Amino acid sequence: MSEQTVHKINPQELETFVRKILIGNNVPEENASIVARCLVQADLRGVDTHGSNRIPSYMQRIRQQVLDPSASPELKQVTPIVAQVDGKNTFGFVAAHLGMQRAIEMAQEFGVGVVSVKHSNHFGMSAWLVQQAIDAGMLSLVFTNSSPALPVWGGKDKLMGVSPIACGAPAGKERPFILDMAPSIAARGKIYKALRRGEKIPTGWALDGEGNMTDDPARALEGVMLPMGGPKGSALSIMMDVFSGVLSGSAFAGHVTNPYDPSKPADVGHFLMAIKPDLFMSLEDFKSRMDYLYQRVVGSEKMAGVERIYYPGEIEQITNEMRLENGIPFTEAEIVNLNREAEMVGVEQLKVD
Ligand SMILES: NC(=O)c1ccc[n+]([C@@H]2O[C@H](COP(=O)([O-])OP(=O)(O)OC[C@H]3O[C@@H](n4cnc5c(N)ncnc54)[C@H](O)[C@@H]3O)[C@@H](O)[C@H]2O)c1
Repeated sequence: MSEQTVHKINPQELETFVRKILIGNNVPEENASIVARCLVQADLRGVDTHGSNRIPSYMQRIRQQVLDPSASPELKQVTPIVAQVDGKNTFGFVAAHLGMQRAIEMAQEFGVGVVSVKHSNHFGMSAWLVQQAIDAGMLSLVFTNSSPALPVWGGKDKLMGVSPIACGAPAGKERPFILDMAPSIAARGKIYKALRRGEKIPTGWALDGEGNMTDDPARALEGVMLPMGGPKGSALSIMMDVFSGVLSGSAFAGHVTNPYDPSKPADVGHFLMAIKPDLFMSLEDFKSRMDYLYQRVVGSEKMAGVERIYYPGEIEQITNEMRLENGIPFTEAEIVNLNREAEMVGVEQLKVD
């Protein structure tokens, strides 16, 4: 069977499988459920770069003792609308989930909730946090920093992270607004995915170690990602570091540890904010204005060659609906990697057709 043979995996079975691997690696049940749910949410939304395929590298960090599987994040209330989470080097998913939960509670009471998270880890796809806020009827801002992958504008060496900026707003009967984007031309996870699948990457995404354009994912990982929009992408990446790194007390200015560096914890920081939509008008008015905005955007006159205009986050929401029904595609090689992790902790193998 070819490494590229694709199998459709049932999302519920996948979530249970991932949760069991996490529990097998000493992650408490409640936290394992959070991590598994977030990873499968990324798989469902088509963000395959930040889904269950990350399990081997996350488990490797546990084995290398640079991620604490059993730590519990600590929450400190700073003012009625501001809280701080110390992730204690637990999973980024667990620390950020607690932070967003508190941000939502504060916003419900006072209109807005701001949470800074320090000493955390990679939290994968930012959109799951935006969705957590949308499910509670809130607007949100979700920032994180990450390990160096991108040169600042004019620079040669990697310094800033490919740190995603994300935000969202609920709507009425139309789709919610969900922006979730890395400030590089492509997320670095897309290079890891190409490497895993033995595929080339488009030239223009990254430079190799010698500063040349490359379509080879392995060489790209030795070099730098290219920022989107030149100085603008570079500035957005610095903005993520100001809010997530400098402000939180976590690593910043190029000192977040690379996920493949086993020498020390990642020390990632996040910044989360939830905002109640009916602060300045009734909830009905807000929702109908969001619906109107959606209709104006997707209904705008299309340029030549464009069949359909999508709202930010809409492609992922459509993928989510399709994958819930038809399953999540995984290559043979990806399943082998996941099953190797299962075997290590005595979890039953993922069944494929
Ligand atoms: N935690 C981390 O450190 C980290 C680092 C990098 C990336 N990531 C994650 O990687 C994921 C991928 O990031 P990315 O920048 O490659 O995303 P992307 O380029 O696939 O999408 C970026 C945004 O553009 C929108 N979009 C894409 N195509 C569109 C179209 N045709 N019409 C309208 N809107 C469209 C998407 O809905 C999304 O909101 C994100 O979920 C991000 O959070 C995480």
